[in-house]
Amino acid sequence: MTAKKRVAILISGRGSNMTALINAAKSPDYPAEIIGVFSNRVAAPGLDVARAEGIPTATLAQSSFASRLAFDEALTGILEGWDTDIVCMAGFMRILTPEFTNRWLGRAINIHPSLLPAYKGLDTHARALADGVTEAGCTVHFVTPGLDEGPAILQARVPVHPGDTPDDLAARVLVEEHRLYPEALRLLASGQVAYPQ
Ligand code: GAR
Repeated sequence: MTAKKRVAILISGRGSNMTALINAAKSPDYPAEIIGVFSNRVAAPGLDVARAEGIPTATLAQSSFASRLAFDEALTGILEGWDTDIVCMAGFMRILTPEFTNRWLGRAINIHPSLLPAYKGLDTHARALADGVTEAGCTVHFVTPGLDEGPAILQARVPVHPGDTPDDLAARVLVEEHRLYPEALRLLASGQVAYPQ
């Protein structure tokens, strides 16, 4: 088998999608290995999960940097130090500079809890329910300078049930996220999908 792609995961919180990727990468025939986990929040619970798995972790706080660009340059330095091939954003709640997204274009992917291009940004489930949609879902897409705008790799759909709360819908979508993200990373890491030229 060709060398596994070296994957860094960026998180801000509990990291359940990170955990799904870590677990998928334990399979011997998975084409990627998780070589580091970064968080922009020092107290992100997902960091403890990564450490328990023996995965190197790193954090940076925006408050230590004079600009977003300086933060993003430091982040790229960490990722380059890990010899990163692919960056997976998994609940990474931070707007990135175009300098960062262009540096990693075609090699950075994100999971978003909506059927993009619908419901970019925050509070996706509450907004979808307020609109009365009958179907929701999640998207794994390439990261580009525009927020939640890059080309989609895979989507999964779930039904909306009468009386669903945003938490109900988030939980139903999350089950699909945990299946979809490892599958999308497998496609990218094995060369079966690539950023459209
Ligand atoms: C996930 O639902 C993910 O799709 C979403 O945050 C959650 C993180 O959960 N991401 C975004 O909203 C990005 N715009 P996790 O930390 O348990 O993976």
